[in-house]
Amino acid sequence: MSEALDTSHELSEVLEDLRRHLLWQEEDGGRVLQVDARLAAELRGAGLARLRAQAAQSAAPAAATQVPPAARPMVPRVTPPEPERPLAARAPQQAPVRREAPPPPERLIEAPPQVRPYTGPLPGVVDGERPTLDEIRRELGDCRRCKLCSGRKNIVFGSGNPRAELVFVGEGPGADEDVQGVPFVGAAGQLLTKMIEAMGYRRDDVYICNVVKCRPPNNRNPEPDEVTACEPFLRAQLRAVQPKAIVALGKFAAQTLLRDSTPITRMRGNWREYEGIKLMPTFHPAYLLRQPAEKKKAWEDLQQVMKFFGKQPGQRG
Ligand code: URA
Repeated sequence: MSEALDTSHELSEVLEDLRRHLLWQEEDGGRVLQVDARLAAELRGAGLARLRAQAAQSAAPAAATQVPPAARPMVPRVTPPEPERPLAARAPQQAPVRREAPPPPERLIEAPPQVRPYTGPLPGVVDGERPTLDEIRRELGDCRRCKLCSGRKNIVFGSGNPRAELVFVGEGPGADEDVQGVPFVGAAGQLLTKMIEAMGYRRDDVYICNVVKCRPPNNRNPEPDEVTACEPFLRAQLRAVQPKAIVALGKFAAQTLLRDSTPITRMRGNWREYEGIKLMPTFHPAYLLRQPAEKKKAWEDLQQVMKFFGKQPGQRG
């Protein structure tokens, strides 16, 4: 085998490894590490095949596939890929053959926020019609879609006004919610109720639900497969209620709905959009109970929501 073909073969193997790694990341609860769109496109098949063909003909295959760091900006997935150009046009024909092994996959992968919309089915939604919460609840049934079902006492679906202008989305039920089958009734729930009332609503005015509907054991974080199993129901609930705004309480709610892995400390306080609905990420009330000094920031976030609705503190209606 010629040197060029040798190098090309090694490269192909490394790229194949990287492609598998990427697929695994995608399957891991949709928490995707991203690479530059052009590189990703190349890795997903066509580019690899073309690379192999190119390598067989070209004297400088390795240089053509080596993407220098400067050409790999940390861009979200929505960034349009560069127009397709033949690989040969991307690297000078005279470039010397690179003999050293390409960097390991970790060095090729950047971890910017993921921005990949949810495109799966929504339970209870037929032909894109607006479902009712009852239809979605029926679809959920005595859910066994993930392992949380084995430890739960009750499914905690959601509560409040089915036509609320404002929805609060939390993480998952705790012990009190599990017993009562109602979201946010424990200590964090009492704080949330105070926050809602301080905004000028009654609890019954708004709709409250969670990312996962069953209590994770010992209040551990929901795991990716659990979020994946439950997420369509949350999305369907939001489709049913059609609020004007959503408050995402904590990182699980914000990251799941927005498909963005940015930490909540950076996301909070900035308006985002979920399916055309305004979404305000803020701290989870359980976190505020542990870190009361952060309540001020959460209140600032909620004040932005009040401003959006033209509400004054304590003003009902
Ligand atoms: N924490 C949550 O995220 N949801 C609840 O329902 C209760 C506590």
